[in-house]
Amino acid sequence: MDYTLLKSQREFLEIPHKYTLDVAVYQGGYGSGKTFAGSLLGILLCIKFPGIRGLVGAQTYTLVRDTTLQSYFEHLDNIGFKEGADYCWSSSLQKLSFKNGSEVLFRHFDEPNKLKSLNLGFVEIEEMSDIPYETFKMLLGRMRQRKKKSWKNFTYRIFGHTNPEMQRGWVYKVFVENKSPNYRLITAPTTQNIYLPEGFCEELKKLYDEQYYKVFVLAQNGDYNSGLVVKDFSSENIKQITYQPEMDLHISCDFNVDPMSWVLAHKTEEKVFYFDEIVMENTTTSKACEEFLHRYPNHKGGIIINGDASGDNRSCTSEYTNYVIIKKKLLSYGYDVQIHIRPYNPPIKSRIAAFNARVRNAEGGICLYIDNKCEKLLYNIYNLRYKEGTSRIDIPTYQQIKQSKELKFLSHPFDAASYLVDFYWPITL
Ligand SMILES: Nc1ncnc2c1ncn2[C@@H]1O[C@H](COP(=O)(O)OP(=O)(O)OP(=O)(O)O)[C@@H](O)[C@H]1O
Ligand SMILES: [Mg+2]
Repeated sequence: MDYTLLKSQREFLEIPHKYTLDVAVYQGGYGSGKTFAGSLLGILLCIKFPGIRGLVGAQTYTLVRDTTLQSYFEHLDNIGFKEGADYCWSSSLQKLSFKNGSEVLFRHFDEPNKLKSLNLGFVEIEEMSDIPYETFKMLLGRMRQRKKKSWKNFTYRIFGHTNPEMQRGWVYKVFVENKSPNYRLITAPTTQNIYLPEGFCEELKKLYDEQYYKVFVLAQNGDYNSGLVVKDFSSENIKQITYQPEMDLHISCDFNVDPMSWVLAHKTEEKVFYFDEIVMENTTTSKACEEFLHRYPNHKGGIIINGDASGDNRSCTSEYTNYVIIKKKLLSYGYDVQIHIRPYNPPIKSRIAAFNARVRNAEGGICLYIDNKCEKLLYNIYNLRYKEGTSRIDIPTYQQIKQSKELKFLSHPFDAASYLVDFYWPITL
């Protein structure tokens, strides 16, 4: 084998620390050598640590089979490994087995539960930003193949590659914002790949607008603040908030079925403190109540329900039924329950203005705080945007949600949280 690696590829392969686990993401533009580097690393680990068990996966199996697996075969061929002698591929097991006992499973991550029983030495993730954070966390828990005595300087490795995210997603949070010392993000612009045909990048430059070129060719993070619905939210708005059993507890609801989104808060005269959220997929109001009672079985203060005004108690929409369900259920539990909703829904832009004014007012005062526990609400704050050039919120379509499941949590948790603010501190535009 006679490869000369690109600078970013070298950085990706070499570990600069002594932790027992290395987590690396190669964030590259189109054609920046992502697949090449990932599959090469997988093979090198199989050779260096006989008996190691690796998993290669992507959100869909087609992606694994058509790109990553092909790249494994190309490398094996270039190294001079022969199928049948040095390694075997089983398409029924989707497994590559090496003569030295190492093996690599090729899987999709669509049903992550199926991977729960594996003990692994390495994991390679194709298009990391497309897989849900939950899957990533589950994979972290799989890194526990027993080390063999012959393995010198062994480090468990999770590595992957990705295009930079257009939205600020979990990859950005985990690898940039709250980075641990054994987490590494390596940036690889396409322009650095000398193995591409001449003029390749110039062609892309003609094709894409500036922002797109910046993200998908130069591999820089997107402008994550542009077009955001919630403006000026900062780390000052994030705070550890302790639930107070004696205080009034607000449940602010959006009754979408999938996901049902409730946020829980305390409030004072001027300030609101979101300390928890109940976001459940494919559920019912009654089940969400049970979850609430399970988490807060001994609340002493009052309970105030806020939410969508189409649930006004003079109408008989399904939301009305929802409020009745909650009230009945909590009353039966001995709780003191009141419902505070507007007689009608204000225009959504007024509700957004009310929320933004609490986040930070013109004098810089902050009246809205969120605990990190409200993961989905924060996801909305960082990602809910207007459609480019319009004042309409860019709500993900069914098709987009099918491709990227995380998107289904966009919009409803924000709606839930903002109903409360709009009720107590309305702004009329
Ligand atoms: N170190 C290297 N030596 C030789 N060729 C390389 C090297 N790195 C990458 N290449 C070649 O550059 C081309 C692009 O690489 P690769 O397919 O890995 O990029 P990618 O970032 O995965 O692209 P995509 O965005 O399409 O997924 C391929 O033809 C690959 O073989
Ligand atoms: Mg690729």
